[in-house]
Amino acid sequence: MMKRIVVLVSGGGTNLQALIDAQESGLIQNGKITCVISSKADAYALERAKKHGIKTRVLVRKDYPDVVAYSREMLKALQEEQADLVVYAGFMTILDELVTKALPNQMMNVHPALIPSFCGKGYYGLKVHEEALAKGVKLTGATVHFVTEVCDGGPIILQKAVEVQDDDTPESLQKRVMEQAEWKILPQAVALFCEDRLEVKDNKVYVR
Ligand code: GAR
Repeated sequence: MMKRIVVLVSGGGTNLQALIDAQESGLIQNGKITCVISSKADAYALERAKKHGIKTRVLVRKDYPDVVAYSREMLKALQEEQADLVVYAGFMTILDELVTKALPNQMMNVHPALIPSFCGKGYYGLKVHEEALAKGVKLTGATVHFVTEVCDGGPIILQKAVEVQDDDTPESLQKRVMEQAEWKILPQAVALFCEDRLEVKDNKVYVR
């Protein structure tokens, strides 16, 4: 059965683009991006979706009184879209556990560091790379993990390391982490999910 993939975005959408490219090149078998939901009305990710004929929806956090009300609306949207898999691709809003609990091991996130380094509340976007450079780590990378009620704490699906260079800026490091890690492991993880090859046991993910 073709799995229905809903992608959540907030920004430029280069990870969404990597997923669209993987779908069009046939890397993602058994799955189809059926909807893109943005937390920002002006996210460029929406243009990328439209260009490829993918349905879009916008759910803005500040249109709702609190995170629970927002999360209820998001869950309703995901259910309307009959999502089999929900992918956070640069989605910058933390949802209430009412969403993650309703879709256990059916939501995944890409994080621009090697979890458990530089993750958790407050670590998003460029900030992650600023902290990695401030610490002076020689290796960083990206992680794809299942989303649970613990921010960046769910079972790890795939990771890929990227070398830090002495002259890196947060921007140059972000770009290398995207190119060498995120854009590769996110489509791979989605492909594995769609082939039913991910098994979660004792909070660990096994690729079958
Ligand atoms: C990506 O680097 C993604 O890993 C990161 O934001 C960027 C979004 O770029 N996500 C987080 O920091 C989530 N905590 P994109 O919109 O071009 O995919």
